[in-house]
Amino acid sequence: KMRVAILISGRGSNMVALLEAARDPAYPAEIVLVLSNRPDAAGLARAAEAGIPTRIIDHTAFPDRASFDAALDAELRAASVELVCLAGFMRILTPEFVAGWAGRMINIHPSLLPLFKGTHTHRQALEAGVRLHGCTVHFVVPELDAGPIVAQAAIPVRQDDDPDSLADRVIVQERRLYPAVLALVAGGRARLEGERVVITEQAPEGVLFS
Ligand code: GAR
Repeated sequence: KMRVAILISGRGSNMVALLEAARDPAYPAEIVLVLSNRPDAAGLARAAEAGIPTRIIDHTAFPDRASFDAALDAELRAASVELVCLAGFMRILTPEFVAGWAGRMINIHPSLLPLFKGTHTHRQALEAGVRLHGCTVHFVVPELDAGPIVAQAAIPVRQDDDPDSLADRVIVQERRLYPAVLALVAGGRARLEGERVVITEQAPEGVLFS
């Protein structure tokens, strides 16, 4: 099994979905560490309840991004982590850190990238008037929310949607998509070759793969 760390900053509902999937003996990934940059992240308690080792690396205790990222990198390597999943991790990572995990770090983002990078993605989608919205899992590259796409899931936008109602329906898809994608990546069935994602597995129904 591939040794995986999940990085969170908050609620951790994607993290819980990954932990639940990984309880299946046939799942190709083992979650060996949950790490938060925020001491108050609610997800930490949920990881601990599941018996997963947790660490806090409080970014406010570091003078700059480089020193925070160095501490993060040291924790991951100390736990012999092979693959990193960002799951609501709200810190921009330095190019040096990202380079050290090239092809071995994935992120989930609440929009159909390359649309609506950054924050407030549901509000951005409503303002743009799109009729399809959703979520994306991509390999992480130094540029924010710009990495090669592994998979996406889409939902229709309704006339009466507001950012909260959209978020509620997108997060359901996120919790479905992320475990499916982690299985592909950890199982070697989706991998980064240069700037392209090579996938050697048919997508589950309703999940749109690049
Ligand atoms: C999720 O919607 C995730 O896609 C988003 O934060 C939320 C975290 O929820 N991530 C980003 O916006 C990353 N830039 P969770 O903590 O319940 O998984």
